Amino acid sequence: MIDTGWGQIPVVEPRSGEIIGIVTRTDLIRTLAPAPLLPGVENLAVQLETALPPARRALIRAVAAEAGRQQAALYLVGGFVRDLLLGQPGLDFDLVVEGDAIKLARSLAVKLGGRVTSHARFGTAKWHIGEAAAVVQGLERAAPGGPSEPLTPEDLPATLDLVTARTEFYTHPTALPTVERGSIKLDLHRRDFTINTLAVRLEGAHYGELYDYWGGLADLRNGEVRVLHSLSFVDDPTRMLRAVRFEGRFQFKISTRTLELLEDARPLLAKVSGDRLRHELDSILMEEQASLMLARLDELALLDAIHPSLQGDEWLYRKIKDLPHEPPASEWGIDDGLRSTPWRLALAYILWLLRQDPASVESAARRLKLRASLADACLEASQLRPDLPDLVSRPPSRIVQRLDGVPRLALYANRLAADDRLVRSVLDDYAARWRKISPRTTGDDLRERGLPPGPAYRSILRELRAAWLDGVIETEEQERQMLDELIADRSADETH
Ligand code: CTP
Repeated sequence: MIDTGWGQIPVVEPRSGEIIGIVTRTDLIRTLAPAPLLPGVENLAVQLETALPPARRALIRAVAAEAGRQQAALYLVGGFVRDLLLGQPGLDFDLVVEGDAIKLARSLAVKLGGRVTSHARFGTAKWHIGEAAAVVQGLERAAPGGPSEPLTPEDLPATLDLVTARTEFYTHPTALPTVERGSIKLDLHRRDFTINTLAVRLEGAHYGELYDYWGGLADLRNGEVRVLHSLSFVDDPTRMLRAVRFEGRFQFKISTRTLELLEDARPLLAKVSGDRLRHELDSILMEEQASLMLARLDELALLDAIHPSLQGDEWLYRKIKDLPHEPPASEWGIDDGLRSTPWRLALAYILWLLRQDPASVESAARRLKLRASLADACLEASQLRPDLPDLVSRPPSRIVQRLDGVPRLALYANRLAADDRLVRSVLDDYAARWRKISPRTTGDDLRERGLPPGPAYRSILRELRAAWLDGVIETEEQERQMLDELIADRSADETH
């Protein structure tokens, strides 16, 4: 800009020559401006004290004291500060050190207990507070004059992340970042939105000072989601999904300029890995306002940019909005979800793909790298849905034959999806009663009756079960009679 006098410098993709962003004078001024401490709201010590339970407060104090001893500045950053200022403080905090986070974590472990794992390349350390009792005792000893209230180990997080302030640059769009050491200001600049760039300093006399380098507080007050620079979505296209998530969660608005940048960056979603996309979509689907967010993603054509089968419509928004918070009744036997996918999240994906044809379901599941058990449940649910209207007028034994083996969550999703009362009650009957009905006769009984083991066992037991299900037999005596007849028929068949 200095050389040419241009007010805006285009950023060009070296291989294709395509313009992928613009650096403006404002971008430059904001990057070079000194750190503003905020008049009026400089200190959040009181809010911090009230937001955190005693054990976490003591933990932060101890980390800050050690940072002070190492002459390192320590900051609480990101979502925690944002939520504290919004009056909805969480319990998880991110700590950034202007100094050496690994050294800090190690001396904390030596003095207070626990152990440390670290990534020297990223300058990050994880302090495992697993042995909470030792750390609590350490914290109690470390508190000047002893703690004002007894500390409870359950209030401590299992681990605490300490991160060295860093700048990151991306060698090409969608790549993982390369990391360099830097100051808190630059560390905050690499983040997604201004509302996530607020920092509270913690060590010594600085305790509670709020740092607002990038205009986060004004945007928080005005309810705006704004990227820090014009290449933010190019650096990380998943931020487009995060913008929608924060907008929906706080009922904010994505700023006009940010929306323009999003329009331009949308095609980059095609290059993002399935794991990263799924991670963001998981977060969205777990939000209270998930249905609003899906509608907004669709409005911004972001769903289509991820995969054409991930459509949104009023039906889906309603179903996602009505997703129960309580796990399905115990007779469904699915309160623990699908292996590592929580049941509510799994249901959201199943409902999302439920009305698609099998090929589209499989292709979307591949794009999002859904776990095999979830992908299978999505597919089975979508295959079952068109069969249900006819199936429900059949005898129970036929219904059970179709439903046995279908993942329970796939059944339950169809139960939630069905607008027809008969379909719902048949699925309830299956879950609560039919699936558990089995004949008294076992394979051992058949062997005792002299029947040679083979496929006949299965078919006899199936016929007995069908008879129970359809009310053809209702007592053990009737079952015995039926078994006699079946065995007699079989030996008659064999003699012919
Ligand atoms: N971040 C980012 N770009 C991403 C993901 C995260 O810049 N693609 C930054 C954000 O600024 C965020 C911080 O990393 O503040 C931590 O990320 P995360 O824990 O996902 O965000 P939170 O803001 O804490 O969101 P949530 O309240 O949903 O946990």
